[in-house]
Amino acid sequence: MTVPVIAFFNNKGGVGKTSLVYHVAWMLSEQGYRILAADLDPQGNLTAAFLDENRLEGLWSGDQKEAKTIYRAIHPLKDGTGDVATPKLENIDGDFTLFPGNLALLPGDMALSQFEDDLSDAWPKCLDEDSRAFRVMSAFWRVLQNGADEHQADAILVDLGPNLGAINRAALIGSDYVAIPLGPDIFSLQGLRNLGPTLKNWRKGWQDRLKKNPNTDLELPLGSMKPLGYIVMQHSVRHDRPVKSYDKWIARIPDTYRKSVLNESTEGVPLVADDPHCFALVKHYRSLMAMAQEAHKPLFLLKSADGALGAHTYAVKSAYDDFKKLSLEIVKRANVKKNNP
Ligand SMILES: Nc1ncnc2c1ncn2[C@@H]1O[C@H](COP(=O)(O)OP(=O)(O)OP(=O)(O)O)[C@@H](O)[C@H]1O
Ligand SMILES: [Mg+2]
Repeated sequence: MTVPVIAFFNNKGGVGKTSLVYHVAWMLSEQGYRILAADLDPQGNLTAAFLDENRLEGLWSGDQKEAKTIYRAIHPLKDGTGDVATPKLENIDGDFTLFPGNLALLPGDMALSQFEDDLSDAWPKCLDEDSRAFRVMSAFWRVLQNGADEHQADAILVDLGPNLGAINRAALIGSDYVAIPLGPDIFSLQGLRNLGPTLKNWRKGWQDRLKKNPNTDLELPLGSMKPLGYIVMQHSVRHDRPVKSYDKWIARIPDTYRKSVLNESTEGVPLVADDPHCFALVKHYRSLMAMAQEAHKPLFLLKSADGALGAHTYAVKSAYDDFKKLSLEIVKRANVKKNNP
């Protein structure tokens, strides 16, 4: 049995992918799911959101042989001394959590960029039935599954960097589902137009390669990358930009999503608010987000001691409800089950 992998992806940067993975991972663990959050973006922002500087220092400057980051877990394969290792996960706990021990992190690593060339080379080599190329292309998925096994995870949530490069291709080949965060701007819409055909290409490319795998003993990902839906990050109202300019781009999302990602007809397309493919419109939380980052806590679990006083108390409560609804919708669509309810 493999554990479902859900990637949060859009090649447009800064649309809130990392913040979403962070908050959805926390919320699902609060709802009793065992979650592995994996940082496959070499920028390492998800890792920095979960761990404070002392922990980061210990992690990144510690023993380089221990498989404590995604890069170190694939290193034996990269340098030809072995295959991928079982990662040593970071436990993410807090005295504010309902279910301590439910959440684990596979930390990111800036060195991961060094794997990009290996992944670029491996992609065409799979067509030549090259045995190592299949090990390389499936490395992320195999490390994720090893980690999920270790943590007894019900689901794996993956954060990715904002590009259509070889790291993301390999990560998405290892993903069963893709949730697409979007911002209310022309760049997100343009990103969506590139993303749909790219996912199709990669899916088809992997199906063609799967038939050529010479390693009968090597379990490989299916490369489904099923689009789960999109999430719109709402704007923070800027005084130099009328609200209408955001609304104009938001209004075009349902049509573009159907055309580019689903390859569906765009007749009778609903508004975003009524679109079943839209998970949620995530609010812009302004200072609450900064407070949460400072406290290394999800914003919906902030307390008065963290500075969430007065009107913030209501914002925290409403954020809890919003993220609960969004997160439970994600597990429903991805058919995630609790292994030990
Ligand atoms: N709902 C929100 N409310 C307020 N601020 C937010 C919200 N979501 C994200 N942000 C802020 O917007 C910025 C970009 O968010 P984030 O890093 O999650 O985007 P990203 O898509 O992961 O970026 P990248 O493409 O660089 O990986 C961050 O400073 C984050 O704190
Ligand atoms: Mg990010």
